[in-house]
Amino acid sequence: MQVPSVSFDVINNYRVLRKLGAGTFGTAFQVENNTTSERCVLKYQNDMDSGQMQHRANQDMLREIEFLKSNKHPFIVKQIEAFRDPYQGEHDRKNCIILEYADGGSLEKVLEKNGKAFKEQEALRWFAQICLGLSHLHRKNFVHRDIKLENILIKGIETGRFALISDFGSVKRLTADTLLTVAGTPQYFAPEIFTAEFDHKIDVWAAGIVLYELLTNRDYPFIVSEKLLKVNPLHCLQKAEFKPWPSNISVECRELFMKLFEKDPKRRPSIDEVLQYHQSLV
Ligand SMILES: Nc1ncnc2c1ncn2[C@@H]1O[C@H](COP(=O)(O)OP(=O)(O)O)[C@@H](O)[C@H]1O
Ligand SMILES: [Mg+2]
Repeated sequence: MQVPSVSFDVINNYRVLRKLGAGTFGTAFQVENNTTSERCVLKYQNDMDSGQMQHRANQDMLREIEFLKSNKHPFIVKQIEAFRDPYQGEHDRKNCIILEYADGGSLEKVLEKNGKAFKEQEALRWFAQICLGLSHLHRKNFVHRDIKLENILIKGIETGRFALISDFGSVKRLTADTLLTVAGTPQYFAPEIFTAEFDHKIDVWAAGIVLYELLTNRDYPFIVSEKLLKVNPLHCLQKAEFKPWPSNISVECRELFMKLFEKDPKRRPSIDEVLQYHQSLV
C-alpha cells in the first residue's frame, strides 16, 4: 500500500492542511473549506499495490459513502460530502470523503496520549456512546465488523470529549440470506467469527474489547497462547480463561464484561440489552 502524499494543495474548494492518520484503505487529512473556513477531514483512497486490492479499496470507500449518506446519528461521524479526485485520469479517480473533524483524533491516540488507563467513569461514558451509535446501526440491520480503538474518534476536546463511530468500510447489511465474511482485526474477534455463521453480536464483543483496553491501557482480557490462537482460534477463544481482574475494575464492571464476553453469541446480550444494563452502572 502506498499512502498518498497528496500532490495538490486544494481539492474541490478544500485546502489541505496536514495529514492526520492512515488506515488500510484510506488516509485522513485535515482540510479547511475555502469559503466557510470550516475545518474538516478529507479521507482519500489509498493507492494499493495490486489491481485486486485497488478494487477492494474502491469498494470499501463506496460502501462507506453510501452508508454515511443515509445514516445520521449523534455518535456516528458525519459525512459532509463525497466526490472523486478531479485531478486524476478517467479510470483511476480516487474516492474522497469529507467528514466532520474530530479534534481529539482516534481513541487509540487519546489513550496513548493519556499514557495510562482511563477511570471507569470516563471509559463507561464513551462505551455508552459507542453502544448508542451501534444500536442505531443494529436496528437498521447493519453490522460494523471493525469496531476498535482506531475506528472510534473523539470530538470536543474543550467541550466534554464524546465518541463517534467511524470507518464504515467493512459495514454490512444483514438480510435473511447474508452470510458475513471475516473482516476486521484479530484482537477484536469474537469466537464465532471462526464458524460459518455470525451476526451483529460480533460488534458487542469488539465494543467490550475497546472498553477493556481503555480500563487497562491496552491489555487483552484472556489468557491465550499466541501459537494456539494462530492454529485453532475458535477452540482457543472458546476455552480461553479470563486474566485476573485488575484492581481498578469494579465488581459491577466485571459483571458487564462477563456479559460482553459471553462465548455463545446467542447468550451474549444485544447492544440494547447492554445499554439497559449500563444504566445501572453510572
Ligand atoms: N473525521 C476524522 N477526524 C479526525 N481524525 C480522523 C477522522 N477520520 C479519520 N481520522 C484518522 O485517520 C485514521 C484512518 O481513518 P479511517 O477512516 O479509519 O481509515 P481506514 O479505513 O483506512 O482505516 C483514523 O484512525 C484516525 O486517526
Ligand atoms: Mg480505520
